[in-house]
Amino acid sequence: MAVKSLGVVMNGVTGRMGYRQHLVRSILAINEQGGVELSDGSRVTLDPLLVGRSEEKLRDLATRHGLERWTTDLDTALGDAANVVYFDAQLTSVREEAIVKAIDAGKHVYTEKPVSETVEGALTLAKRARTAGVKNGVVHDKLFLPGLLKLRRLIDSGFFGRILSVRGEFGYWVFEGDWQQAQRPSWNYRSEDGGGIVVDMFCHWDYVLTNLFGRVEAVTARAVTHIPERWDERGRRYDVTADDAAYAIFELAGGAVAQFNSSWAVRVHRDELLELQVDGTLGSAVAGLHHCVIQPRTATPRPTWNPDLADEQRYREQWQDVPDNAPPKNGFMAQWEQFVRHVAEDGPHPYDFLAGARGVRLAQAGLQSSDGGCRVELPELTL
Ligand SMILES: NC(=O)c1ccc[n+]([C@@H]2O[C@H](COP(=O)([O-])OP(=O)(O)OC[C@H]3O[C@@H](n4cnc5c(N)ncnc54)[C@H](O)[C@@H]3O)[C@@H](O)[C@H]2O)c1
Repeated sequence: MAVKSLGVVMNGVTGRMGYRQHLVRSILAINEQGGVELSDGSRVTLDPLLVGRSEEKLRDLATRHGLERWTTDLDTALGDAANVVYFDAQLTSVREEAIVKAIDAGKHVYTEKPVSETVEGALTLAKRARTAGVKNGVVHDKLFLPGLLKLRRLIDSGFFGRILSVRGEFGYWVFEGDWQQAQRPSWNYRSEDGGGIVVDMFCHWDYVLTNLFGRVEAVTARAVTHIPERWDERGRRYDVTADDAAYAIFELAGGAVAQFNSSWAVRVHRDELLELQVDGTLGSAVAGLHHCVIQPRTATPRPTWNPDLADEQRYREQWQDVPDNAPPKNGFMAQWEQFVRHVAEDGPHPYDFLAGARGVRLAQAGLQSSDGGCRVELPELTL
């Protein structure tokens, strides 16, 4: 069967996400397996053009992976008709401008989240892409986590009955950087550079909740900065200007209530860094990134409140593992395959810029709720 090659401009590929998840674990991994298979059996391989600001880093990266195409000149990269897709994993704060250029150059655009720093910006991009007739997509990786795929399966099987509530616990301790190096880039802690846990995580929570449990109709949130000073990559002290924890209630269409704690200032006493507990009339589940356990109504023990006696129940042991039943696949790679099929043969890709704008709006509404001490309603977002 025929093999077609698709030029992909990859901007921000020297960064954490751009390099590891998108270049190595997606683009290069797809090529290693012989490309993306289309419905007619033909294949599409991807020809990356690495774009960034540092010649040295790009050359080094290209050499390490045997790649020939790299440049510091985005305009030239976009001017080449062989490059059909533009991908952006730059800092959030510089994304919008680059995507506008890519759309204007007629490229299909796939991007890391959040698509823009503001709802207005995200909607403008969505409209611009629609007018230009270019395909567009935003990363929505958490839906591809094995643990969340198991949740999807449970929901589709009717396991939960009526879903009552979802409790999300996300976070871990991010070192301040003074005596141990921080494990996240310092811009995450400066709002002027697009940082903050609400901006970072609420766009994930939006598509997770919307796709699994129901559209988010209202949010009440409290965003805080627990750690006011940190030390950057070069060991310099800086003031933290962004929130590093957020405590939120999301009201969902259909009546379920979701509560999410998101924090970079919490120590982990959980099995995984993200855990979702879903309680329904017929059963409950706790899903992490990989694992998922369930307790059906018929096997629910009878806890009795008695603070005078030590509890004999081994609650964690009363749950049953949900098996994988299929080999796990990297979620970023699966999304790339989906987007390539979208571009090459108009395959479905529901997570477009408008969906991305919904995520940005949830983050903006979360911050608005926190600033004003109020509940913010979220009507349907349309173009
Ligand atoms: N999907 C996810 O789970 C996930 C996780 C983390 C980050 N992200 C998103 O990925 C993006 C990158 O995050 P990261 O953690 O890889 O950050 P990073 O700091 O490791 O990488 C940022 C990239 O942008 C480039 N860059 C930095 N400043 C720039 C500037 N002024 N102009 C142009 N380019 C610049 C850097 O050279 C680097 O290539 C962010 O938008 C972030 O929200 C997504």
